[in-house]
This record gives sequence, C-alpha cells and structure tokens, in this order.
Amino acid sequence: MSTGAGGALPPLAVYMHLPWCLQRCGYCDFNAHALRGELPAWAYQAALARELRRQAPAALGRRVCSVFIGGGTPSLFPPAVIGELLGDLDAVLGLEPGAEITLEANPGASETARLRGFRGAGVTRLSLGVQSLDDTLLARLGRIHDAAAAREAVAEARTAGFTGVNVDLMYGLPGQEVAGAEADVAAAIELGVDHLSHYQLTIEPDTPFGRRPPPGLPGEETLLAMEAACRQRLAAAGLERYEVSAFARAGQRSAHNLGYWTFGDYLGLGAGAAGKLTGLDGRVRRTRQRRSPQRWMGVAGSDQAEVESIELTPGEQAFEVLLNGLRLLEGIPEDLLQARSGCDRQALRAWLAPLYERGWLISEKGRIRASAVGYEMLDTLLLELLPGPPAATGGRPSAKGDNALN
Ligand SMILES: C[S@@+](CC[C@H](N)C(=O)[O-])C[C@H]1O[C@@H](n2cnc3c(N)ncnc32)[C@H](O)[C@@H]1O
Ligand code: SF4
Repeated sequence: MSTGAGGALPPLAVYMHLPWCLQRCGYCDFNAHALRGELPAWAYQAALARELRRQAPAALGRRVCSVFIGGGTPSLFPPAVIGELLGDLDAVLGLEPGAEITLEANPGASETARLRGFRGAGVTRLSLGVQSLDDTLLARLGRIHDAAAAREAVAEARTAGFTGVNVDLMYGLPGQEVAGAEADVAAAIELGVDHLSHYQLTIEPDTPFGRRPPPGLPGEETLLAMEAACRQRLAAAGLERYEVSAFARAGQRSAHNLGYWTFGDYLGLGAGAAGKLTGLDGRVRRTRQRRSPQRWMGVAGSDQAEVESIELTPGEQAFEVLLNGLRLLEGIPEDLLQARSGCDRQALRAWLAPLYERGWLISEKGRIRASAVGYEMLDTLLLELLPGPPAATGGRPSAKGDNALN
C-alpha cells in the first residue's frame, strides 16, 4: 500500500489504555485513577470495541504489527477481557502473525494464574513496573509492593511461559546513592530480565511529589554517576543500550516502541490515549481521546471520544521523525526521514547541515544518528532543529504523544 506522497505507509500498531490502579503513586502523572469499587472491566472492553470500530475504517487493509496494553494497571483486568480485546482486534483489523503483544503488570497485582491467563489470551510480552528492589525506596515512592513481590512477579512471569519480560526501574530516587542505583540494576540483571527500561525519576508539577518534593533527591553530578555506573553494569551483563532509556538482550528489543521511534502509525484506544495515523493521501494526524474514564466510556464509539485531532505539516513531520528517531543509538535511515516527512531531500540536508558541521549529527551508511556529544545533549540538539526544515514549515501547532514506552 502506498501514500499520496509516494512512500509506503508506516507499520500499524495499537495502543490501548486501561486507566485504573489500586492506588495512585505520588510521582505519577499518567492518566491513572485509583479504583473505587468494582473494576468496570467488561463495560470498558465494550467501550474499547466500539471505539475500535469507529477508528478502524481509517486503517482498513492494514494489519496490526504490535499491540501495547498500558495503564494504569492492566494486570487488574481479567485475562478473559484481554482475550476478548485481542480477538476483536484480530477480527476487525487482523493481527500480523507473530505480532508482539505487551501488557503492563504491577507486582502485587499479577499472580501466576492470572499471568498464565494473559499468556493464554495471546499476550507475548510482559512489562513489570518494579521501580526499585529496595524496600525503603519502594515505601518512599508509595508503591503497594515490596522487593520480594517484585522478584516473585518476574519468577511468576517465567512460570507462566513469558519469554519476553521487561522490567521498569527508576533511578534518582529520594535518598538514593550511586551504589543503590547500581544495586537495583544488578538485582534486575540477577532476575534474568530480557529488557530493562531505566528511567530517571521526573518530578512532575501536577503530582504530590511536584507539590511537595521529597527530601534527598540526588543532584546532577550524582545522577550522571548513577547513569554511567548502571550502563556499565548492563552492558557487561549483555543488555545493550539501544535507546535513551532502553536496554535489551539480543533479539529482545521492543518492536512496539521501535514503531514509535521510527515514526510508525498507531491507533490510540481508551481514556486519554494518543494516536498517530497516516492517511492514504500521506497526511499525518495526531489524535487524543477524552481523558476521564467515565466520560470516555460514555462517548466511546462516537466523535466525542476524540478531543484532539491535529494534522501535521511536512515540516512538523520531519521534526517529529528526528525527535523520535534520534533517541535510537543507531539513529534512522535517511530514506526513512524523507519517506515519513514527505519533505524534499535537499531541503532536509540543508536543514541538518549546521548540526553535521558542529559534529552533533553523523551521517553514515545512509543513516542519520547523533554523535556521542550530540546524544549527551539530545534536548539541546533538538531545540536547534525547531521549527523544522525552512521550506516545509507550516503554522499548525504540533501535539506530543505520551503513550507508555517500555
Ligand atoms: C505508565 S507507568 C505504568 C506502569 C505500572 N502501572 C507500574 O507503575 O508498575 C510506566 C512506567 O513509567 C515510569 N514512570 C512513571 N512515572 C514516572 C516519573 N515521574 N518519572 C520517571 N518514570 C516514571 C515507571 O517506571 C513506570 O513503570
Ligand atoms: S506509577 Fe503505575 S501504579 Fe502508580 S499510579 Fe502510575 S500507573 Fe498507577
């Protein structure tokens, strides 16, 4: 299938957001809501099915390469509901054989029987929100589980038959020293994880941590030392860094996240979910769904489910391709930048030339990537690229998606 711009359509993925947690964590600004009363699992599944049918016509004829079921705490949902969601997706759009299907699970809400059920329902990869393996730090973060429960969850994932297991860890935690961050990574390695997402704790403004920052947050120098020590340990254990925060064993990179980083398409289903889709005419739209779970369920399947739909200009597309693609250590093919943006090759080269001259970008074997210096200061590098290639920029504002990455 080809676009009006003459290039092939990007691969299609689906992100589904399941927005409830047992309780909210003080640092988190995701669209997650403390569960009060019973989980409306089947009502939410029915709403997702309605919304899938509303969005599907724009993607008909394209099979789904990967699915990410994120939250919130999707592992609170009964496996039968997850099975129904995936069956529906297969019936409406079709899942590619061997499609990667990831589900986010929390230690403390993911016992073996349930994990087996998810595996049986078609989930291929589990992403466990471990955060730390230090009980004191877990308590400071307000997590509902301790380190033993996190260890148990990884073991249970194996017993349930998952071969692709990701663990999320955060560093820069209140009161954490370099040795503590290193010990967390060492403990995760010990658990034999296939993939590790290593995030620096961000203090988000509209959260309890933002309003009242916890004491003992590490300074810049300590954070840099933590990163260096942890990366060294991960590399030595065979977990290769392939993106700013992502480390994987051979063959275990996240196909879904690689889709985001190479500016692939994805339908966003569920409360607050973001989507991005290329039309047959080559125009790219970013969409966002209504945030409140109750309100979203009430309007899912109608135009009111969508609160934002923004068409990107070619210049914005070019910027976003690099915003995502330069997160990858190996960068992206130059052809991909042209194909995904529809911009003229010469205009793109002229736009990037100052950064090649400064030594922040490298062009090698048909790929563009950040140099070691450029990678260390990626945010500054990207600011230099705003607002996009001069000949191709337009006046429309761009939207940033924040669907879970791990
Ligand atoms: C969408 S959350 C959901 C994961 C799951 N509910 C959990 O908490 O175990 C995905 C990941 O984002 C990371 N995260 C959430 N808030 C963060 C923050 N303020 N700073 C850095 N990482 C954060 C955590 O590592 C978390 O596992
Ligand atoms: S960090 Fe995870 S468990 Fe905690 S509130 Fe956010 S989504 Fe829920």
